[in-house]
Amino acid sequence: MMKQFFALTLAGAALFAPSAFSQQSGSLSSDSYQELFRADRAARGVDGGASCAGCHAGMAKGQDGHLHLEYPMWQGKRFEGAHYNSFNILNGPQSELIAKALVQSDEEFVEAFKRADCLQCHGLGHATPKKLRSKMWHEREPVSCEACHGHAGTGSGDADGWLGRHTLRDWASKDRREWRKYGMYDTRDVLLWAENCLECHHGTATVGFSHHLLGAGHPDISFELLGDLSGVPVHWRWERSYLKDVPNEGVWQCARIWAVGQAITLRETMRALLRWSERPSEPRPDLALFSCFSCHRPFYRNEANSTPPSRSPERLPHVSGEPAWNGVSWAVCKQLAYELMPESQAKFDAKILQLFNAMSLRPDRKAVRAAAGELATLADELARKANTTLMDFDKTRNLLIGIAEDYEFIGAIGPYGADQAIRAFEVLYLDVWNQSAQKLPENTHTAVEDSLNTLRKAVYDKENVRKPSLSRFDYKKFEAPMKDLARLWKASDPGS
Ligand code: HEC
Ligand code: HEC
Ligand code: HEC
Ligand code: HEC
Ligand code: HEC
Repeated sequence: MMKQFFALTLAGAALFAPSAFSQQSGSLSSDSYQELFRADRAARGVDGGASCAGCHAGMAKGQDGHLHLEYPMWQGKRFEGAHYNSFNILNGPQSELIAKALVQSDEEFVEAFKRADCLQCHGLGHATPKKLRSKMWHEREPVSCEACHGHAGTGSGDADGWLGRHTLRDWASKDRREWRKYGMYDTRDVLLWAENCLECHHGTATVGFSHHLLGAGHPDISFELLGDLSGVPVHWRWERSYLKDVPNEGVWQCARIWAVGQAITLRETMRALLRWSERPSEPRPDLALFSCFSCHRPFYRNEANSTPPSRSPERLPHVSGEPAWNGVSWAVCKQLAYELMPESQAKFDAKILQLFNAMSLRPDRKAVRAAAGELATLADELARKANTTLMDFDKTRNLLIGIAEDYEFIGAIGPYGADQAIRAFEVLYLDVWNQSAQKLPENTHTAVEDSLNTLRKAVYDKENVRKPSLSRFDYKKFEAPMKDLARLWKASDPGS
């Protein structure tokens, strides 16, 4: 799994400004930090990753004596860092196939590494006007430093950039308004950096994973913020963003990051529906916003090990004969909402049901808009709550049990819902509970690991390959290990 907790400490870095930006996410004209930042980025010059290497490959020392080695860490040990490679991937055979599948004829074909839609997530600064790109910026610029930290602006002569300023002693203690003024993104706050990752990894905001892109062969959007950090060389010290006023959040921080990622994903899914509702020219929301399993599924009625129809996607509330709403963003987030906002449980449930009932290939635009708007606001509240709550042992255990016991709903959503459950178990159990002082006795832990393996086999194409199988998902094989896990976690004696 993941993760190393860097043993270093950074004195005085845990200074957070009170949230300077209020957010009204029910409406799209909201002034969220991310949106303000996006507008800023569009107008600001880009320096390129090479310009950071000068100091961040061992030359810069922090005020605490910490050596800054972020550049080689971002590259990955053997130059295999996923983000470092993100441009190169566009030059490969898989990208060529995707780019070919996206056009009808040879004449229309444009190589992936020249396509603006690919570059907006696989590159940096390609949409920036030429005169605003520094000499250090490279045409093959991948997802480098400024994709997450903000365009630095200085290399192109922008006196208002953050590059020079950020090396000064007092920069780290300045509030986020000051950082943004010069274009630096506030990565000191989990809520904000999580939002940034999801822009590319969930296709939120201006970009998006359309069914067109998925159908052309682009990898699906199965992503779990924290579990997936195992795939990127993490170049920061976790304690920098410990919960304010809780100096020893320790291992529970991972549960909080998971929770924030879940809530933001739900919020952004709702915003995608809201954006559709504002485009009367589009008769239906993108197919990716519907349950994949409604259309892509095995013909189980002919199979010996069949999924009982009562457990099939027909179990999801929906307009009969139409695909159901894609409930993946609610699959496990549901338990989080119940845990952190019990007073709003009924409201969440009612709005989700409204959405299921309103979604179809010819949806009632107004009804979708109303439900999605309220859910976006609720999810925003949930994200904020998650980011300020110590996700202690009791909460983490409750979440695990709640998710495992909700196998019927999660199974009805299908393999993508099941994938979310597995990822939640890996983070909340393996990375959190099992690393805490309350870890389970060895034999119970082994039983949990066995059930997790059985579960993976029921959901993924091949063992250890993280691709939910739309055509092979077998509800029966999924149900049993979910029940086992619920039993094992419930039997554990809390506090022992
Ligand atoms: C001239 C040297 C220099 C260059 C070039 C440079 N940095 Fe830095 N950077 C520093 C120093 C010094 C610090 C402060 C270190 C400390 O006190 O721990 C720093 C800190 C940072 C921080 C941490 C801020 C915080 O408090 O959280 C980030 C992020 C960062 N740099 C990103 C970048 C990026 C991205 C680039 C390239 C666009 C870059 N730097 C280029 C010297 C440099
Ligand atoms: C919304 C952002 C986004 C857009 C647009 C996008 N990608 Fe991706 N792409 C990603 C992300 C994120 C991943 C990593 C997925 C994962 O493994 O979790 C990825 C992965 C890939 C991979 C697989 C990489 C590997 O290591 O196996 C290929 C190939 C690829 N993209 C090609 C393309 C092409 C070609 C286009 C344009 C037609 C494109 N992408 C557009 C975000 C995007
Ligand atoms: C995929 C997004 C992403 C990319 C790309 C990225 N960073 Fe970061 N970086 C982050 C996040 C998120 C944090 C802060 C996490 C935290 O403190 O909890 C961070 C933290 C840092 C810090 C502070 C580390 C510390 O512990 O004090 C520095 C310095 C930094 N990044 C430099 C760089 C440089 C230089 C590059 C390019 C070589 C880079 N980053 C690329 C996301 C990114
Ligand atoms: C500007 C778009 C962008 C942003 C922002 C971004 N990523 Fe990525 N990420 C990508 C692309 C594109 C790939 C696929 C690259 C490849 O496979 O070579 C990727 C790959 C990854 C992978 C490897 C996935 C795999 O299955 O191999 C992980 C893990 C990851 N990103 C985590 C993060 C995290 C965590 C953040 C936020 C701190 C983040 N990313 C922010 C675009 C982005
Ligand atoms: C309303 C029905 C519908 C929904 C919902 C739907 N798809 Fe599709 N999908 C199709 C059709 C029709 C095709 C085209 C099949 C062909 O070209 O032969 C297709 C093609 C694809 C393909 C290309 C390969 C293939 O199997 O033909 C992929 C991959 C894919 N869809 C993934 C998804 C994912 C992932 C989701 C959920 C996010 C999804 N689809 C949701 C109907 C749907």
